[in-house]
Amino acid sequence: MRRCVCPGSFDPVTLGHLDVITRAARLYDEVVVAVLDNPNKQGMFTLPERVEMITQETEHLSGVRVVPFGGRLLVDLCLEVGAQAIVKGLRGEVDYSYELPMAVMNRRMTGVETLFMPGEPGLSEVSSSLMKEVARFGGDISGLVPERVLARLQERLAQ
Ligand code: PNS
Repeated sequence: MRRCVCPGSFDPVTLGHLDVITRAARLYDEVVVAVLDNPNKQGMFTLPERVEMITQETEHLSGVRVVPFGGRLLVDLCLEVGAQAIVKGLRGEVDYSYELPMAVMNRRMTGVETLFMPGEPGLSEVSSSLMKEVARFGGDISGLVPERVLARLQERLAQ
């Protein structure tokens, strides 16, 4: 069974994340989407909300499972679920500089490889934090996040 893990905070999930998960699902028998629980970081959405949104948005894909994780190393989750690789999208050099040390460290610790997938060029500007900021000040992010996520974001910002 070929299995990979796609990790992230997904606060909230964007079309960039979904593009990587969809492409990973074509390559692997199972994609485990690992949603980070970081109690030190106050996100816009709670862990159960983030898990719920990404579960809804990946329901139509076969072989995708969403799991929360936190308080331990990502590679330990990989070993537990039997994943040979971590798959991450790369939008550009900044992402690469951030991801490279983690990829090297993860392989050194366990042998779990990290595979980088070039991000879809039309989505290269999409990050959760940018989406939240643009939406907060009334900018248009339609076409960059799923419609249901856009509605949740607008609802949250109106509170
Ligand atoms: O969406 P993000 O915030 O870029 O995701 C970062 C993530 C979850 C991939 C990274 O923070 C992570 O792997 N955290 C788990 C703890 C861990 O294993 N840290 C050591 C990495 S070498």
